[in-house]
Amino acid sequence: MNILLLGSGGREHALAWKIAQSNKVEKLYIAPGNAGTGRVGENVDIRATDFPRLKAFALERGIDMVVVGPEDPLVQGIYDAFQEDEATRHIAVIGPTRSGARLEGSKDFAKAFMLRHGIPTARHLSVTRDTLAAGLDFLATLPAPYVLKADGLCAGKGVLILPTLDEARRELEAMLGGMFGDASATVLIEEYLSGIECSVFVLTDGTHYQVLPVAKDYKRVGEGDTGLNTGGMGSVTPVPFADDAFMQKVRTRIIEPTVNGLHDEGILYKGFIFLGLMNVGGEPYVIEYNVRMGDPETESVMLRLKSDLVDLLEGVRDGNLDQHPVEEDPRAAACVMLVSGGYPEAYEKGKPIAGLDEAEATGSILFHAGTTEKDGQVLTNGGRVLAVCSYGATKEEALEQSYRAARLVQFDRKYFRRDIGFDL
Ligand code: AMP
Ligand code: GLY
Repeated sequence: MNILLLGSGGREHALAWKIAQSNKVEKLYIAPGNAGTGRVGENVDIRATDFPRLKAFALERGIDMVVVGPEDPLVQGIYDAFQEDEATRHIAVIGPTRSGARLEGSKDFAKAFMLRHGIPTARHLSVTRDTLAAGLDFLATLPAPYVLKADGLCAGKGVLILPTLDEARRELEAMLGGMFGDASATVLIEEYLSGIECSVFVLTDGTHYQVLPVAKDYKRVGEGDTGLNTGGMGSVTPVPFADDAFMQKVRTRIIEPTVNGLHDEGILYKGFIFLGLMNVGGEPYVIEYNVRMGDPETESVMLRLKSDLVDLLEGVRDGNLDQHPVEEDPRAAACVMLVSGGYPEAYEKGKPIAGLDEAEATGSILFHAGTTEKDGQVLTNGGRVLAVCSYGATKEEALEQSYRAARLVQFDRKYFRRDIGFDL
């Protein structure tokens, strides 16, 4: 079959790499893609949210399936756009409907959904400008630190964790005053959960589900989880504390009520569900839902997925995912992100990258995150540039291998964290 994958980051290169290994695939296109995806498929210069052009392209090239990498097209309703049009209705879109995508697009919706279905999550209150006084009262009942979340999509910047009540009060007023535009017209005040996080990826056909390898990502720019939040500086899988006992709780208390809850509420959902979980003394709590795979978790998770990804996606399309088991590679995998100096603040682009072949010759797999190609030369084209991914018998070995390869890649002001996996 012919597949169109949407997106342009490291997650999409990893998905493209895995999809291209399937003998079910005739032709793989990536819109818009990057220099890395161009090596495993054909890049198409269309934005992932340009539905009219994506539909026209899909019809012209006989696309059978659209796999959606990032959240924006899903929240904007790409599933519905293909379904509502008689001409494109036969094309399977892997992802939720616009209605299902509210699990990520509105934190207020997600919280209310969890409450309706008894899914464990932090206590909270949603407030608007009109209910600010109740919000300030609620804040005063919580112990420090204070968690404030913008309801809508903010490119990962909408969560503030404040050490004092005074700061929390000030920031709550600023958020409601338009700090994140419309996205913070509603703000969630949340109880702070103390524990260790992990990312659980579920694939569902709307009735059945399969769980992919569990991973942990590292979001802060500095070693020891310090400094500013980034899109992600690295990941490892498996996660030692996500053992059978913990995962059994995740299945019965979180995954099953989520999949059944969506089904019972009549919300059509055929795609990935990403559970951002906090392990609080052995008990899993949902920190957030995303309606897509994680980045940079996908880069290590795809290494450990032994099953044919396209076969699993066919199970999603056909509604028989229960007959498409997930097989995991017993090895560990790690991903170390090489970023542009200055990221996540101001950084430069267009720096020539050297040593890619040498790094890959050591056995690592390099997924491109922010790269472009000009006259045969690969150039940096983003804050996160390359995900250096490796297998190992243990996560320590996988990380060691990634660091060996990471040192061979050269570009001006290259930076990476040297402590990925330090807390496991
Ligand atoms: P989110 O965008 O909801 O994933 O939040 C971003 C990050 O903030 C999470 O990955 C957590 O590290 C942290 N966080 C969010 N909510 C809480 C909470 N209730 N308690 C502790 N940390 C939180
Ligand atoms: N790695 C976290 C995310 O993709 O949102």
